[in-house]
Amino acid sequence: MIIGIPKSSADAEQRVLALPENVAKLTQQGMNITIESGLGASLSIADQAYIDAGATVASSVEKLLADADIVVRIQPPTVDQVKQLKPHSIHVSMLNPFTDDELIEAFNARQVTAVSLEMIPRITRAQKMDVLSSQASLAGYAAVILAAQQVDKIFPMMMTPAGTISPCRVFVLGAGVAGLQAIATAKRLGARVDAFDVRPDTKEQVESLGAKFLEIDLGETGQTAGGYANALSEEQKQLQIDGQTKIIAQSDIVIATAQAMGGLKPAPRLITQAMLSAMKPGAVAVDLAIESGGNIEGAVADQLVEIDQVKVLALSNFPAQFADSASQMLASNIFHFLSEFWDQEAQSFALKLDDEILQSAVITHQGETVSAVVTA
Ligand code: NAI
Repeated sequence: MIIGIPKSSADAEQRVLALPENVAKLTQQGMNITIESGLGASLSIADQAYIDAGATVASSVEKLLADADIVVRIQPPTVDQVKQLKPHSIHVSMLNPFTDDELIEAFNARQVTAVSLEMIPRITRAQKMDVLSSQASLAGYAAVILAAQQVDKIFPMMMTPAGTISPCRVFVLGAGVAGLQAIATAKRLGARVDAFDVRPDTKEQVESLGAKFLEIDLGETGQTAGGYANALSEEQKQLQIDGQTKIIAQSDIVIATAQAMGGLKPAPRLITQAMLSAMKPGAVAVDLAIESGGNIEGAVADQLVEIDQVKVLALSNFPAQFADSASQMLASNIFHFLSEFWDQEAQSFALKLDDEILQSAVITHQGETVSAVVTA
């Protein structure tokens, strides 16, 4: 069974999906790994390191796609790349399954089983394969480091003979995986941190990191069975906007991480231009939800824009800022996914469609869209 790992075709993608150490462990289990030449180039990893780990290098990417029984990549493939896959093979990657209908149709036309990494369920057994969590954590870290570079203040309080400098004030909107990491990072740097989330459980988590939870009474909010926030009513959204306006005006940095279903559904727009205008000149606002529509009005993907003297930064790929660490986590997630379903005896990938993980993550199979969530 050949597992093909092409290079990412997205220009800005610096992350690498498989590192030689993961490849060595996969080949030891009997997997036949073929990589595209240059797979590790963005991290200065030579093809030879993969060959030493037991992989082979395909003579061309076209051959890799045509021969592989399983293709694994980070970003969704193009429709053209799907057309080159071996019929009845398996494709594993991020897929944006709710928005990219054309891609889903292409998988069905080719009779390819498409596995969406974003749809791996949030159950304990799947934590080690959860790419949304591993990458969100790095995104939260990256947002704080990038904001620290942009703001013209230091983070910690400093008492010197020349006077006392007050700590930088950071407000984190959304205390999920990315938000909690942003809070922890900002606290470690010495900032005074406030945070808000609609899920009631988060208050304790925010406070355990030494940050202050902003109390806004939105009435019943709750969360989905998968642990995600429920969408707010228009009335609740307005209450939230009113409740957070003052703290945003007082903050030097705002980090917005509020998403719906880990970014698979449109993000709520929670920071208006009027709120930005009320911030201090030189303040910084970072939008981590830009890929799913953005939390901040006026934020532009992959740009630093200035709105009323406030710097607004949004990147479509925050984890790629720290590509080495992001790759280590991503490669470990993929290693665990492949190993979980590898049948050592049969020396093949066991596509157990009744398994809880695959039931959620398999989007297409034998020419049909089988994901109940996507078809709903
Ligand atoms: P996410 O990326 O969908 O959203 C980020 C955060 O934004 C969430 O905390 C969400 O509640 C919050 N949010 C949504 N609307 C908001 C609004 N209007 N105002 C303020 N905040 C808002 O979610 P994420 O970070 O991927 O994870 C959410 C939950 O899933 C967390 O409880 C996390 O601990 C849990 N989780 C569980 C795992 C497991 O058990 N295997 C693995 C990963 C996460």
